[in-house]
Amino acid sequence: LRVALLGATGAVGRTMLEILDARHFEIDELVPLASARSRGTRIRFRDRDWCVEEPTGQSFLGCDLALFSAGAARSRAWAPVAADAGAMVIDNSSAWRMDPDVPLVVPEVNASALLRPSRGIIANPNCATIQIVIALEALRRAGGLRSVIATTFQSVSGAGQSGIDALDSEAAGRIAADSPFVRTIAGNVVPWIGPRLESGWNEEEEKVRNETRRILDMPDLPVTATCVRVPVRVGHAAAVTARLEQALSRDSIEAAFRAMPGIAPGERDADPTPLDVAGTDDVRVGRVRIDPDDPRTVHFWVVADNLRKGAATNAVQIAERLRDG
Ligand SMILES: NC(=O)c1ccc[n+]([C@@H]2O[C@H](COP(=O)([O-])OP(=O)(O)OC[C@H]3O[C@@H](n4cnc5c(N)ncnc54)[C@H](OP(=O)(O)O)[C@@H]3O)[C@@H](O)[C@H]2O)c1
Repeated sequence: LRVALLGATGAVGRTMLEILDARHFEIDELVPLASARSRGTRIRFRDRDWCVEEPTGQSFLGCDLALFSAGAARSRAWAPVAADAGAMVIDNSSAWRMDPDVPLVVPEVNASALLRPSRGIIANPNCATIQIVIALEALRRAGGLRSVIATTFQSVSGAGQSGIDALDSEAAGRIAADSPFVRTIAGNVVPWIGPRLESGWNEEEEKVRNETRRILDMPDLPVTATCVRVPVRVGHAAAVTARLEQALSRDSIEAAFRAMPGIAPGERDADPTPLDVAGTDDVRVGRVRIDPDDPRTVHFWVVADNLRKGAATNAVQIAERLRDG
């Protein structure tokens, strides 16, 4: 296959190359694309150096697959070009996620949506949403879902390489001139991710709400989130409260999580942390508690590597599903 990778030099793009290699994804020709800043950079992939170019109308000709992780503006500009050239586009940005003609897919939850990629574009969900929605699907299958409240603890790599650089600079006592964060992140906890909306919510919180509803195909499900940036390099965590249709025992809920594809089987009373999942493709769940005042409400904790299952791995799994029919 000829595969274009837009954003090849970024945090997700580099992880994508690792995942493609580790999963032995067949690639005859790689077309790594990035900004003018990276033009001419060489990228090592499977014993060959591939030269990074800026995207042009020619870049996608003959490509079977185009994996995008270069931000929403680039996706809006180039995804239709790549799709018109015949490539199937899998996009990690937020550009197409709410387009009704673009499937928004977590393969373990709604792979059937892949049957309808009418624009030739498939959207990969927001990184915090992917891990939460896999856990929610386990609960839906076991006891039905009534409502969801999530508080996320999101690592700096969720903001890309500049987020990692900002944490490193600040931790070393320097000022991070190009920090993507609204406040100092080293030694801090920042209750703010993405642009502020007039309502007081921020864009990340809207993404968790809207994308969760769309992936679960439950457009009226009450979902709210508070999204928080924490000084962790890799791995997002979320504390989630879900109200179910029917009361379940703690044992049945833990069994439902264990039975859910995508969730790694864990110990009873597990309390997995970002460091436990960084560098793995596991979604891990722990801290399962039944609400003392409402037997139909469950509280739990979920963690995953945002660059892998939250982005690159999910995208490559989608590509594998498409390849395998
Ligand atoms: N980080 C995560 O956990 C995560 C999870 C899910 C989705 N995403 C999404 O994935 C995308 C990339 O995120 P990231 O974390 O990898 O960010 P990043 O580390 O900042 O990387 C951005 C990539 O985009 C390229 N780029 C920037 N401007 C460009 C332009 N004008 N033309 C072509 N390429 C350009 C960069 O190239 P240069 O190196 O040349 O600047 C780089 O390869 C974003 O849309 C993000 O929302 C990220």
